[in-house]
Amino acid sequence: MFTARVITVSDRGYSREREDLSGPAVREQLAGAGYAVEAEVVVVPDEKNAIQTALTIAAKDDVALVLTTGGTGFSPRDVTPEATIAVCERLVPGIPEAMRYASLQITPRAMLSRAAAGILGRTLIVNLPGSPKAARENLAAVLPALEHGLAMLRGGQADCAAQT
Ligand code: MTE
Repeated sequence: MFTARVITVSDRGYSREREDLSGPAVREQLAGAGYAVEAEVVVVPDEKNAIQTALTIAAKDDVALVLTTGGTGFSPRDVTPEATIAVCERLVPGIPEAMRYASLQITPRAMLSRAAAGILGRTLIVNLPGSPKAARENLAAVLPALEHGLAMLRGGQADCAAQT
């Protein structure tokens, strides 16, 4: 069972002007898929430094999977992908490619998410869009493949040839 942490990136969520619905939605989805996901969702503002710090702490805490929600669009304050790319040692472009491919079957606006994914130490970081619906749909598109990636990343049983 892999550990997981959810980080909501939202100015309004951080100031409590708006209740964070996406973080808990993603949390439930992860728990349902068998992840040991932390009970508390971390909420940070749309500040590159704050996002980078939260991601770095998660890697230091050796969390296996970190999902962020929000800040992937075109608003001037949307910088989650930039913060993610800045801290990651290796990018995993296939994950956001798969999310956008699947999401384009649902809405043409899927192309507006600039989400990134990458690896920092033994931690996989994946950006999701900010609305609860979009976050759930994007996660559903990649969730089945993540466990195999995490097994490779964390030195477990991960024989690609033995799996379909
Ligand atoms: N992906 C799916 N599956 N479903 C959606 O409704 N919304 C899109 C996109 N991806 C959407 C989606 C929209 S409208 C935007 S602006 C971007 O995600 C970025 O969202 P964010 O700025 O909340 O991160």
